[in-house]
Amino acid sequence: MENFSKIAYGIWRIHELTVDKVYENLIELKKIGINVIDTADIYHINNYGDSEKLIGQALEKDNGLKKYFKVVTKCGIVARDTKVKHYNNSQEYIINSANISRENLRIDTIELFLLHRPDYFMDFEEIYQAFKYLKDNNIVKQFGVSNYNSIQFESLRYYLDQRRIDLVTNQIEINAYTSEHYMNDNVFYLKSRSIQPMIWSPMAGGKLFEDNETNKVIKEVAKKMNLDIDTIMISFLNSQGLNPIIILGSHNITRYRNALKGLKIKLTAEQNYQIFKSLTQIDVK
Ligand SMILES: NC(=O)c1ccc[n+]([C@@H]2O[C@H](COP(=O)([O-])OP(=O)(O)OC[C@H]3O[C@@H](n4cnc5c(N)ncnc54)[C@H](OP(=O)(O)O)[C@@H]3O)[C@@H](O)[C@H]2O)c1
Repeated sequence: MENFSKIAYGIWRIHELTVDKVYENLIELKKIGINVIDTADIYHINNYGDSEKLIGQALEKDNGLKKYFKVVTKCGIVARDTKVKHYNNSQEYIINSANISRENLRIDTIELFLLHRPDYFMDFEEIYQAFKYLKDNNIVKQFGVSNYNSIQFESLRYYLDQRRIDLVTNQIEINAYTSEHYMNDNVFYLKSRSIQPMIWSPMAGGKLFEDNETNKVIKEVAKKMNLDIDTIMISFLNSQGLNPIIILGSHNITRYRNALKGLKIKLTAEQNYQIFKSLTQIDVK
């Protein structure tokens, strides 16, 4: 993911905004060097694709912005107009989704296209054929997945790698309330393969700012260092040898400035473990 900024603009919560406000945010983000937008086909409280459309309309206002931003989108979850929520990673579904997203986003090529969740019934050959078609036709530049554990990632990566398609990222949730990827050793796996993860909900969707026991430790570290809690959380996520791209979900540009500050701060081993302990409730041996 060469030339991707380390902080990304997540637009899961974009439905509250107008096109003008999104446009304004994109201009401000460009000024501070953030060039990644993260979205998905299913993002919008009302209709599939509405978040992509909003971004598309904002990008359409300025060709410079369209060239500058790298858009990441996802496919594979079917949650509406169906008897049962399910995943669909068939060749036809993937290709169709990429074309719809590209249209919604008003861009020629999707920079990075992710399979949103591990589909237990996925046929690797169909995924390969879909990715090959999207790459050969310049519809997608790079591919990745989201919410995979290490075995799932390695299995698909191995199959695609044999056929010269790279999986460049696994977008996973890590925050003060989610320790799954430490416990299942996904973080070790990603490091061993030099796979750059994208981290979603770094602020636990805003829960990090509530007054409670989990947040107490981060607040203490932040107070001691005279920094904001969000800056510390970004330092924590960025101080673990993962080299992540961290996706914030805020529409407030100050939070992005705080996050950039966090990239420059290296926490001590003790501070990392203080936060880790509050996160996992585990005392290391
Ligand atoms: N791959 C997946 O399965 C998956 C799943 C979920 C999300 N995502 C991606 O990850 C992105 C980020 O997720 P998220 O929205 O949950 O991110 P988040 O950054 O953890 O949470 C954003 C929320 O936290 C609040 N917040 C941030 N800083 C704050 C502060 N200093 N004080 C008070 N409130 C604060 C924001 O409110 P304000 O707007 O007021 O700042 C916003 O409501 C999504 O947009 C999406 O692109 C991916």
